[in-house]
Amino acid sequence: MNDVILRTPTVESVIHCGDGAFARYAPALAARRLFVVTDSNVFAYYRYLIWQTFGDETPVHILPAGETSKTMRNLTAILRAMVQAEIKRGDTVIAFGGGVVGDIAGLAASLYMRGVRLVQIPTTLLAQVDSSVGGKTAVDFEGVKNLVGSFYQPEEVICDPVFLKTLPDREVRCGLGEIVKYGALDGEIYSELIANSQNLKTPEFLDKITYMCVRHKAEVVSADEHDLNGRRKTLNLGHTTGHAFELFYRKKSHGEYVLIGTYYELYIAEKLNVCGHDYAESIRKLINAVIGKVPAFADVRSAARLAKFDKKNSGSQISLVVPAERGRCAEISLDEESYPALLEECAARLKSRAK
Ligand code: NAD
Ligand code: GLY
Repeated sequence: MNDVILRTPTVESVIHCGDGAFARYAPALAARRLFVVTDSNVFAYYRYLIWQTFGDETPVHILPAGETSKTMRNLTAILRAMVQAEIKRGDTVIAFGGGVVGDIAGLAASLYMRGVRLVQIPTTLLAQVDSSVGGKTAVDFEGVKNLVGSFYQPEEVICDPVFLKTLPDREVRCGLGEIVKYGALDGEIYSELIANSQNLKTPEFLDKITYMCVRHKAEVVSADEHDLNGRRKTLNLGHTTGHAFELFYRKKSHGEYVLIGTYYELYIAEKLNVCGHDYAESIRKLINAVIGKVPAFADVRSAARLAKFDKKNSGSQISLVVPAERGRCAEISLDEESYPALLEECAARLKSRAK
């Protein structure tokens, strides 16, 4: 087991990583007044563990499982349930679930009485390596993902691989998508991924790599908590195109679209001499190891229009964070004509290879 400390100018958040972290750190929370937020799938698997650990009197708010639960309506329902449970300023919200639960429960905790204590217990691989760490909270609003939210650090994150035992393979691929992203940002993570490219789903590998990703994210967030100086923006590598495909096609998981987006953006980075061929090829192999063949989408031009809404953009330029070399990424800005044209070239190449 390993702890990572995330320090910002105002708070300190401790992330307990590794096998046994839940058994070691969760029982102590039962001494406080708690309010647990979870989702229907997680509750079905872990209701006895929740009752046993936190007490069967602890209020548990259960959201319907899935991405569509990150709504204002559900946020209001959580806040109303907190009022009914008479939650006070010194009480603690526990977000027990994946990124959806973490994002909405974190937002509720940041709003209720201007902020109550928050503990994240991430149960998906994506939430363990990414969303539970760093304090971004949000709900979707007016059809825009994560439009309404806050920066609100959990005081503690309990990141235990025990929960991954019940996770469907699709969700493991989703988490691996973000792990490969870290590999393109951090040379040590890259080397670990290359050395284990045939064992990416083994518990031993996931245990080690989760700690490394959490350490990387904590360092980035400590340096740029509020996404202001360009450092935190790097965590969005591959996401401009990934999000655009995700919004347009809506068939695969977020992490798979991140990898597909990274693949297309690598084509652009190589074409513009921002990334060398051998390094690009090694990242492409990792992507293929997680999701198999990358699709040659038929209508990338329409999907590309959705990249206009990316938060990194300025003016009419589309901003991409792309792999550059081992341990280094770069930002590319493209105009609204070049970007879809380059994506189309990549799709055409993928199509010709598939023949
Ligand atoms: P999720 O929370 O919807 O979980 C995925 C699925 O796995 C759900 O059906 C859930 O019920 C199920 N599940 C969760 N834990 C399980 C377990 N242990 N066993 C079996 N099933 C389990 O999705 P996610 O991928 O964890 O998170 C995606 C969300 O995270 C998105 O809304 C995204 O915007 C957000 N996100 C936030 C940040 C951030 O920094 N705040 C970063 C990345 C992503
Ligand atoms: N997942 C991106 C961030 O936390 O900034």
